[in-house]
Amino acid sequence: MDNILHTFNGEAFTYAHAFLEFSYLLAAILFVYGLKLLSHPETARKGNIWAASGMILAMITTLFLHEDDGGSRIGFTNVIVIIVTLGIGGAIGLVISKRVKMTAMPELVSFFNATGGAASALVGLLEYGNPGNESLLVTLLGLIIGSIAFSGSMIAYGKLSGKVGNISAGFMKYVNIVLLIGITALTVYILLQPEPHKYASLVYLLLAVSLLYGILFVMPIGGADMPVVISLLNSLTGIAAAMAGFIYHNLAMILGGILVGAAGSILTLLMCKAMNRSLWNVLLGGFGGGGVASGEEGGTIKEITLSDASILLAYSQKVVIIPGYGLAVAQAQHNAHELEKLLEGKGVQVKYGIHPVAGRMPGHMNVLLAEADVSYDKLVEMDEINKEMSATDVVIVIGANDVVNPAANETPGSPIYGMPIINAVEAKNVIVMKRGMGKGYAGIENPLFFRDNTRMLFGNAKDSIQKLISEINTL
Ligand code: TAP
Repeated sequence: MDNILHTFNGEAFTYAHAFLEFSYLLAAILFVYGLKLLSHPETARKGNIWAASGMILAMITTLFLHEDDGGSRIGFTNVIVIIVTLGIGGAIGLVISKRVKMTAMPELVSFFNATGGAASALVGLLEYGNPGNESLLVTLLGLIIGSIAFSGSMIAYGKLSGKVGNISAGFMKYVNIVLLIGITALTVYILLQPEPHKYASLVYLLLAVSLLYGILFVMPIGGADMPVVISLLNSLTGIAAAMAGFIYHNLAMILGGILVGAAGSILTLLMCKAMNRSLWNVLLGGFGGGGVASGEEGGTIKEITLSDASILLAYSQKVVIIPGYGLAVAQAQHNAHELEKLLEGKGVQVKYGIHPVAGRMPGHMNVLLAEADVSYDKLVEMDEINKEMSATDVVIVIGANDVVNPAANETPGSPIYGMPIINAVEAKNVIVMKRGMGKGYAGIENPLFFRDNTRMLFGNAKDSIQKLISEINTL
């Protein structure tokens, strides 16, 4: 065999094998570079393309260069079947992604994530009975985690698209604990058998219990906590893919899976931190809606007329727009951009203050404002914009509530006490645009609305901004 490069531990390494491993290394570099670019909205699109090219490279080289233990490549018929299947799956993915509305993005992510979990679970199911499989623990873990990620993500998808309702009963957490104990006991039992490969019926039971656990674990979680859960499920899919990579000794799969797992876990924890909540608290639910006392409740609300608001804004030097969930609901991002351009045309400096968990998904405000072509350098993160608050003439809060609630700083005992917020309250004037006195996600009063420097502009955010623009144009 003249194409053997060298032998190691009795195993022969061919040129094809060396090239394959090199392509995996290259793919890993492309994944990491892609991730790096994803960290900024301006380069995120490129990041996606780089990481995807790494994945395409790994797929092509695996298809044509992978050799099994006997040294033979993937057969021609199998290559054709794989290419056709990839083509069909890819085309479906492409059409769905092109058609999806920006607001339906979290459910699409959930759906795609479910398919990743299912793929890893299937690998576990296929490889479990293979007597040559030396990594049985990893195989079972891949099967369990993949199944949980699959059924959990499907429920998350169902909830976000309004097809599945909320079922929340106190006893469910005990059922979940029992299921987790069952999963662990079954796994240990199978692994301890002298011939563990031969317990297919128990492995199917393990699959069923894991699928049920995925459903029951996501079921009671409140709608607005879904982004955290989706991110957690995403990291589970990554871990399951890494497990599948271990089974096949496939470096690209291991690395890709670990990167997804790590990125998902970090994002999950960052979101929890930005909401000042523990992951445990999110998973067990019980946030918001309870009308928990925030200290200063009630007081006098002052409204501002459109003409007063337009004069105040047009003659300001510095205005900061703080967008929140209501901006997304009203789809008022284009109008906000129009207002920003109009004010800048009048010599007013305008910036946007972006809170990390404003809205309902990570980067929600960045995505919305990018869609409206707002320039990235106008988006200022919370810590930076807070330094400028006291020198700001007018803050316009558009559909934001919790992320500007001073109770987070001032009221120990408030559910959001300790959550970092944008200190809109420090600005010289605050204009709050919302429909009425509706509460935000945390379900609590916001003392900002009652402060002396705050005035309310009630109405749907889109209508209010449009009217404001017309009014400023008459000045
Ligand atoms: P929220 O506190 O949820 O407040 C949104 C406000 O928008 C509401 O008070 C509502 O008041 C108003 N609103 C709704 N529809 C509107 C419309 N069409 N026009 C004008 N106003 C409208 O939003 P926020 O300040 O962005 O805070 C986000 C919250 O979500 C935080 O508590 C955060 O922890 C949580 N959360 C975020 C994430 C991520 S990753 N972003 C994930 C999970 C949870 P009216 O009803 O009176 O109009």
